[in-house]
Amino acid sequence: MADLILEQLTIAYGNVTAVDNISLSVPSGEFLTLLGPSGCGKSTTLFSIAGLNQATSGTIRIGDTVLFNGENGTSIEPEHRNIGLVFQSYALWPHMSVGENLAFPLKLRKVNKTEREKRIKEALALVEMAAFADRYPFELSGGQQQRVALARALVYRPGLLLLDEPLSNLDAKLRERARIWLRELQERLQVTTVYVTHDQAEALAVSDRIAVMSEGRIRQLGTPKEIYETPADAFVADFIGSSNFLKGKLIEHNGPWANVQLDDGSVLRAGAGKGELAGDVVIAIRPERIEVVNEPGQNILRVDLVGGAYLGSIYQYEVKGPGGQYRIQTNHEMTDKQAYVRIPPEAATLFRGDSVPQIG
Ligand SMILES: Nc1ncnc2c1ncn2[C@@H]1O[C@H](COP(=O)(O)OP(=O)(O)O)[C@@H](O)[C@H]1O
Ligand SMILES: [Mg+2]
Repeated sequence: MADLILEQLTIAYGNVTAVDNISLSVPSGEFLTLLGPSGCGKSTTLFSIAGLNQATSGTIRIGDTVLFNGENGTSIEPEHRNIGLVFQSYALWPHMSVGENLAFPLKLRKVNKTEREKRIKEALALVEMAAFADRYPFELSGGQQQRVALARALVYRPGLLLLDEPLSNLDAKLRERARIWLRELQERLQVTTVYVTHDQAEALAVSDRIAVMSEGRIRQLGTPKEIYETPADAFVADFIGSSNFLKGKLIEHNGPWANVQLDDGSVLRAGAGKGELAGDVVIAIRPERIEVVNEPGQNILRVDLVGGAYLGSIYQYEVKGPGGQYRIQTNHEMTDKQAYVRIPPEAATLFRGDSVPQIG
């Protein structure tokens, strides 16, 4: 199988630019996720790869095969792209049995009857639905329908699998099991996969790499670990997991470290981040990285407790202190209305002050 390559892909609807100059290369066998909030252009990107919508400019290739080229007007018909597609709504044909649903794309591709029957058996076995070939969609649970939809996408052995929020109609427990199962199947088949979701936990759990999107652009591309631990900007830091943003002013910048003054005059040391910084900045710190300590000291702030919740495995508190209001998570119950918290410099990263859309 070959790599999927998008080059300078732009897709506009009238004067809305849904996808803005995206370049991306997905190596053969990789599980890549497009992750971002609703409306950021994930489905539009996926559909253009499938050929269900027409890109405005750029190129889409699988290895040496050009699927789309905006320069010379090349655009291969969807049924000739050899791509398997699964949507959020399973969209099985309701008047056809499971077996007939799977036979349909094979008939479309002129696969003979003997071969069809063999492949349908294989595909249903893959999704553990071998016993259900004669059932109708309405006789299946949501999870089973979703497996059949996946089998239908795999039955003609596509070189590329595209999945658009395929698990979002399942309830939470089933969704968690389905994503593990889906990932295992993908690894076994080694089919190059582009997966679309707005659910960051799901993206972290299943992906080899994640492309974080916002407003039609890729904000960061990296492994789940890279995205979580070294977010490229405040948007990514906020969207993946959650981050606190403490407001302050940059007073000193020395190699990888910076000193920031907060509104009460206290000075925090933090990672300097990547961008050019001056003046107003925010210090991004994850709730689980803030430490509750007993006394004042370096990088330690005095805070007031303003709210809290017991989450079963952990306590979560809202505190007010220098730099604003922020959230902390800890294994220990906080019994006093005031506390000292330490912001470990190695867990804190600076971003530009104007790069955070809303600070609570
Ligand atoms: N057929 C269409 N006509 C006009 N605008 C569209 C169409 N499809 C999507 N858009 C717009 O393009 C943007 C991206 O949409 P979409 O790719 O569906 O987002 P996502 O899948 O990330 O939620 C949105 O602003 C959406 O309103
Ligand atoms: Mg979508």
